[in-house]
Amino acid sequence: GRPCRILAIETSCDETSVAVVDDGRKVLVNQVSSQIETHRQFGGVVPEVASRKHVESITRIIESSLGEAGLGLRDMDAIAVTQGPGLIGALLIGVVAAKTLALAAGKPLIAVHHIAGHIYANQLVQPLAYPALALVVSGGHTELVLLERPGRFRIIGQTRDDAVGEAYDKVARALGFPYPGGPHVDRLAVESAQTVPLPRAWLEPDSYDFSFSGLKSAVLAVLNTAKMKGEAVDPAALARGFQESVIDVLVEKSMRAVKAFGAKQLLLCGGVAANKGLRSALSARCEAEGVPLAIPPHALCTDNAAMIGAAAYLKFQTGEFAGLDMVADPGLSL
Ligand code: KG4
Ligand code: ZN
Repeated sequence: GRPCRILAIETSCDETSVAVVDDGRKVLVNQVSSQIETHRQFGGVVPEVASRKHVESITRIIESSLGEAGLGLRDMDAIAVTQGPGLIGALLIGVVAAKTLALAAGKPLIAVHHIAGHIYANQLVQPLAYPALALVVSGGHTELVLLERPGRFRIIGQTRDDAVGEAYDKVARALGFPYPGGPHVDRLAVESAQTVPLPRAWLEPDSYDFSFSGLKSAVLAVLNTAKMKGEAVDPAALARGFQESVIDVLVEKSMRAVKAFGAKQLLLCGGVAANKGLRSALSARCEAEGVPLAIPPHALCTDNAAMIGAAAYLKFQTGEFAGLDMVADPGLSL
């Protein structure tokens, strides 16, 4: 395709991020300012606080990103931004900033879906092979997405209740860990040789959907029952049981979908892709079954603007630009 240099902005949740990406593949800069420390005291992301923090940092991060790249707005071919889904007040800040830059510099504007970004983070590492199947797992999402060709997304399965990361965070909280608790549970899960057996939500035999709220409730029930009886629970065995249950279902359904849809590649995306247990279980299964697996490096799995720049490349090539009347959409569909 045509060479292009895109300035990308991501503010859908609790990181303010700005990147410059060449040709949807090469990251020149990818600055991420996380608000985790701010939200930790509340035990989760507080939307109004997130919005205010984005306002405070967006201009500075745009300037320092361009500075780091040694480039100016005039060097950009387009401005891309996450349109949704996400927190409305958070998305708005990025969208307004992107529109302002596009108007001021006379550059085309590209609206990107956050999940398309998570999926195309993989393109920053290697070209995608189609059809590809993406397992998107984050604090807000749990989806199996089929990509028959570039930019064509078909959700074939999704969570009916909690997202995986959300379940991790709730279980972590019950075990006494600070937000975000996923990494703590992941670490704890390998500290015991014992496993507290927990249920697996397979749902209907032909379904690619997920459900994690029952599992989360089962963990809480084990903790409550033990507390009532005055018995001790090995938190590591409980974390291990929880993690095994989550991973079993994610791996099994992904592999089933890879076969059913003839996917040439499995892509693991989103913040929970950092989970060591999930990475190793999925790698082992893919290896055994000869399925190429792609997992972006950690910094590209969690929310960042480089992935938005990668996804925007496709729209730049097809000339799919947004007008200045584009609006942030917290419930945007893929
Ligand atoms: O993609 P992300 O950075 O933000 C969203 O778009 O949600 O994902 C954050 C989520 C949090 O729920 C966090 O607890 C979870 O990813 N997470 C993990 C691990 N690292 C991050 N969950 C399980 N194991 C991990 N190692
Ligand atoms: Zn995300």
